[in-house]
Amino acid sequence: MCGIVATIGLGPAIPVLLDGLRRLEYRGYDSAGLAVVDGGQLTLHRQVGRVRELARQVPGTLPGHVGIAHTRWATHGKVTQANAHPHVDADRRIAVVHNGIIENMGVLKARLQASGVVFRSETDSEILVHLISRYYAGEDGVPAGDPLAAVRAALRVVRGTWGIAVLFADEPDMIIAARNGSPLVVGLGDGQTYLASDPHALIAYTRRVVFLEDGDVARIDARGVQTFQLDGGLVDSVIETMDEVWGDEDSGDYPHLMLKEIYEQPEALERCLSGRIVPAGGTAKLGGLDMAPKDLAKLSRVGLLGCGTAFHACQVGVQLIEQLARVPAKAEIASEFRHRNPLVDPDALFFALSQSGETADTLGAVREIQVKGGTVMGIVNVVGSSIARSCGRGVYIHSGPEMAVASTKAFSNMISALAVFTLMLARQRTLSAYDGRLYVEQLLAVPDLVRRYLENPGPIDTLVEWVKDAGLVLFLGRGLSAPVAAEGALKLMEVAYVPCIAYPSGEMKHGPIALLETGSPVIVIAPRDELRDKTLSNLQECKARGARVAIIHTEGDDIAQHADLSIAVPETSPFFSPLLTVLPLQLLAYRTGLALGCDIDRPRNLAKSVTVE
Ligand code: G6P
Repeated sequence: MCGIVATIGLGPAIPVLLDGLRRLEYRGYDSAGLAVVDGGQLTLHRQVGRVRELARQVPGTLPGHVGIAHTRWATHGKVTQANAHPHVDADRRIAVVHNGIIENMGVLKARLQASGVVFRSETDSEILVHLISRYYAGEDGVPAGDPLAAVRAALRVVRGTWGIAVLFADEPDMIIAARNGSPLVVGLGDGQTYLASDPHALIAYTRRVVFLEDGDVARIDARGVQTFQLDGGLVDSVIETMDEVWGDEDSGDYPHLMLKEIYEQPEALERCLSGRIVPAGGTAKLGGLDMAPKDLAKLSRVGLLGCGTAFHACQVGVQLIEQLARVPAKAEIASEFRHRNPLVDPDALFFALSQSGETADTLGAVREIQVKGGTVMGIVNVVGSSIARSCGRGVYIHSGPEMAVASTKAFSNMISALAVFTLMLARQRTLSAYDGRLYVEQLLAVPDLVRRYLENPGPIDTLVEWVKDAGLVLFLGRGLSAPVAAEGALKLMEVAYVPCIAYPSGEMKHGPIALLETGSPVIVIAPRDELRDKTLSNLQECKARGARVAIIHTEGDDIAQHADLSIAVPETSPFFSPLLTVLPLQLLAYRTGLALGCDIDRPRNLAKSVTVE
């Protein structure tokens, strides 16, 4: 995670750096810092907290046309000013910002300390600046005073992942950048060049970009970029144009981004479905998959991979695919999959689900599948993101910008993209045109049902009173409602810091039931489907132990009378019920966070885009 921004050229550096940091803040907001060079002097500013704290400290008139900046999400070392980036060498002549993790930190730090280097932070990143400084001074036969050679030499001895930008007080006409596992993109302006970990930091300045690849080291100056392989020659820089560009993060008429994004779900769903459904044939087409019916017919299985909320969407997806298309499907947490030496069936199709398209573990899972000769496609929101680019093929979910750390509308659109894929696959196999048309009719009706629910969401505030001071909240659901329960628990933990667990309802009696006491809040997700009655039995079991039970159910269902509190959602096909039942849970998390005075859009310790393992 963390965000990097840098610039060099005709204009003053500070406004670009602060503006870029603000746009990147969703990647990490523990601390922020920047360094600029002017008149041969390197100036450093660092501050714990949000970018606005840093901006207060930095004089707007600070001169300098070259600078690097960073917003941090702590991995190694606490949230302190000393641990904030940039890190500088002993003489304050070189500054480094780093995203990623240096895995052989222990041995390198010990070696540097033994030779007299004094570390001023607890970070792994500081190692880089000391190594670069030594090689810049000519250690180990590296040509002295050569910034590119010094950075290359340092990167040869570190192990791990990096996206870095390096500034030299003695070389104000260049910035050196390098990428290995942490994305970096160069923006080409008119007499000014930019660098960022995310193209959206550059939108105010340019749409012409060069994405660095793993193993690249780049020399950036006011005219553009020259890219080299770490151990090789010059690489051709491919200039791309960013087409889909999202504006600034702005909550508009809403008090928070999260609330805005919850309420944007109807339109977001419509965008995801638009142009992809073929109503007459009761089927769908997903151009980005580039798969003919005969390719779909060959599929032996489908694997869905993701992290966090995206993983919960995977869990919904596998049930749709197995139940409707009768193709074996499995959901797996990307960080588990990538490290367990998985079997990759060449006739299987994998999907990597990710809002940001940058999650390191999901990207790692993509690479693992590719190394093993498998087929993997992205189901991604951010156009041109690392996962989208690595997969080459896939489905954009078209949620529009999702900036609040807690994911909401991307969850719905991932499910809706998977519902479209399921339809394609099912029509090619078991589903008749008649049933396909019915499915289409129900799917296309979902955005309006979501709209209708959001206009009148029911007694959420009563539920807030139940959960806001609870020691534990238990979420239960079966079948398609089990991942919804998990998503509800995740949201409430993320946004309001309320301890929660989610269990498939039937499994509750094998453990979590021991936690129930008189008044314990339990939230049961039980839409009208074939599992409703079984879930009702579990609800009764909770009540028998004195728990207070809230139920999220289908409008008009008399199951409501068995609960202490009921929240009704409009009726849809049981297959699409997660798109409705998740809504009260999103609102519950939001309003509980609000009641507890939490920082809703930037919850503590979290980040929107998790670009480290
Ligand atoms: C972080 C975010 C979550 C998100 C997860 C996966 O933990 O806080 O909201 O679900 O990463 O992110 P992705 O961008 O891959 O969907």
